[in-house]
Amino acid sequence: MEYEAAWLDGRVPCAIPDIRGIDDIYLMSDADRVRSDNVIIDTAARELCVAAHEMFGSDLSPKQLLSTDTLYTKSNGNANIALKLTAGDEPAGAFSIIAEEGSKIITVTSSSPEGLLYGAFRLIFLLRTADEFKDLNCSETPASPLRMLNHWDNLDGSIERGYSGNSFFFENDKVIVDDRTEAYARLVASVGINAVVINNVNVRAAATKLISAVYRKEIKALVNIFKKYGIRLFLSLNFAAPMELGGLDGSDPCDEKVRAWWKTALDELFTDVPELGGFLIKADSEGRPGPFTYGRTHADGANMLADIIAPYGGLVIWRCFVYNCKQDWRDTVTDRAKAQYDNFMPLDGEFRDNVILQIKNGPMDFQVREPVSPLFGGLKKTNEIIEFQIAQEYTGQQKHVCYLIPEFKEILEFKTYIRDTKGDPVEADTVCDVVTGRTFGTANCGMAAVSNTGNDANWTGHDLAAANLYGFGRLAFDPSLTAEEIANEWTALTFGKDEVIFQLISYILNTSRPAYEKYTAPLGVGWMVNPCHHYGPNVDGYEFSEWGTYHRSDAEGMGVERGAKGTGYIAQYNEPNASLYENLETCPDELLLFMHHVPYTYRLHSGKTVIQHIYDSHYEGAEEAVRMRSAWCSLKDKLDKKRYERVLERFDEQVRSAAEWRDAICTYYRQKSGIADEKGRI
Ligand code: GCU
Repeated sequence: MEYEAAWLDGRVPCAIPDIRGIDDIYLMSDADRVRSDNVIIDTAARELCVAAHEMFGSDLSPKQLLSTDTLYTKSNGNANIALKLTAGDEPAGAFSIIAEEGSKIITVTSSSPEGLLYGAFRLIFLLRTADEFKDLNCSETPASPLRMLNHWDNLDGSIERGYSGNSFFFENDKVIVDDRTEAYARLVASVGINAVVINNVNVRAAATKLISAVYRKEIKALVNIFKKYGIRLFLSLNFAAPMELGGLDGSDPCDEKVRAWWKTALDELFTDVPELGGFLIKADSEGRPGPFTYGRTHADGANMLADIIAPYGGLVIWRCFVYNCKQDWRDTVTDRAKAQYDNFMPLDGEFRDNVILQIKNGPMDFQVREPVSPLFGGLKKTNEIIEFQIAQEYTGQQKHVCYLIPEFKEILEFKTYIRDTKGDPVEADTVCDVVTGRTFGTANCGMAAVSNTGNDANWTGHDLAAANLYGFGRLAFDPSLTAEEIANEWTALTFGKDEVIFQLISYILNTSRPAYEKYTAPLGVGWMVNPCHHYGPNVDGYEFSEWGTYHRSDAEGMGVERGAKGTGYIAQYNEPNASLYENLETCPDELLLFMHHVPYTYRLHSGKTVIQHIYDSHYEGAEEAVRMRSAWCSLKDKLDKKRYERVLERFDEQVRSAAEWRDAICTYYRQKSGIADEKGRI
């Protein structure tokens, strides 16, 4: 199937007027560290040659230089680029770019091959987006050691929560390794991704065999491609593999036979594929097998695997998405929001160093608005990764535009008020500090996102959803970037530097998440979606189900009471967050219905009643969908037809769907509350 190159498509010219061409690309290294045959450095040099060709038509091949050689420039005004590997010991991936104005020599320096690769991509991006030569100077260090994509791809080729076609990793129980695999690695490495889980966390059927000899050849081939781009491959693991593959009668992690089975299987795997990063595991969650069946803890399960793969430098990434999915909806004490904290806090400090807990950003499941998971403010002696979802399962399924980076920024900047083991306040206490290892000085940590890619030509179905893929990578690398900066970078690289395009796309991206929240789930309510596929409005779709996802609307009011008089969830936060959420006077409006059950006539900080806010926000959100569509239409003459029409088609659906949400929700609450819209809308 044909595919495009998203923000790497090469159409965007060099934006810096001073640079009229590139004469040469040099590879240099400190004399004692000549590593010019390193595959990652080769990739970096090749990318620069490709970019030089795209921007200036030059056909270059990299030249080797010794550290004692001096770089001279010809006096033709063209630039020269050097990739220089140094002997420092900065964190892997760190780089700096020095652009000497007089000589026009641009040197990318790093002490790691990955750093040269990220530096080369950064330089290429800057050449296309910066205003002046001096803007090329920069120095960057990746904030998160692990910058990871989780693909929920199944071996039959389908993708769980996939909205951009089928898998490009699997088809009919076969692993696909082709030119698109390399195009993918190139795309995600260009924004700093360094770890990829290729298969769904729900490991069933043939996927269980990915660790076995059956797929060894293909896994090795994938690893060899990923290696060139500094990416480590991870696999999702089936905890019941000893039974399903080994024929044992159980998977008890403390049973010697089970341990021996895993040891043989994983020793073989790592001996054949030593570059493998490790495993992602969903256990005891939504019907997946796990240690609970045998009366064992998550620590027993994770540590058993961690011990086996520790000698290979392997990591066990264990998901905290564990809750009771068979809840009785009449039970108002059990609260799914509390489950992750309740399940994992008691195990703090019991996991091996090469185990990392992967925690979803919120306590529920990727709603358009949720509070931050209180677990980030709890764990003190455990490695952590935050899990975001750029697949837009609950945020419009890549039919609606929903730029998620502002949400991720809010979450990362949330102050956890975590304390150290002595109970003293910690200075570096934001979620970002915790997951980038600043709080407790850990190195096994970072950020993961459930990927939004598939085999659609444009990778992400909705062309504007590529901003989330680009943005997640950039944010994981450099969380100090603002959502606007990231949006502008992506827009310039995708559409070129055109002021009108810039303004309109920036308007669309910035409006998109607030608009989506307004017409689907204002005030933190969530879950009013059609069951199973999760698209479109269905107020009571999950209300009387076993999934633990309720809004508790009745004739008087709505929202889940999670304070001291309710489920007690709020007490999982540290002070002052707990009091902030507990008190109605201070609880932020946008989370009110997540935290409390209030009457429809309750007045928000805005002065509006809850019911009037519901009416108004749904109308506003639907109107914003119409305005975003118009903004896109006004770009018609500036964009290529294919891209323009692909997005327009999706805006048509977004506008239709937003109106459907508005009418379904407003009608429902008009009937439920008996209170009319004071603006007389019906
Ligand atoms: C959500 C999603 C599932 C997924 C699960 C998970 O519940 O709907 O499809 O498997 O999250 O994160 O494991």
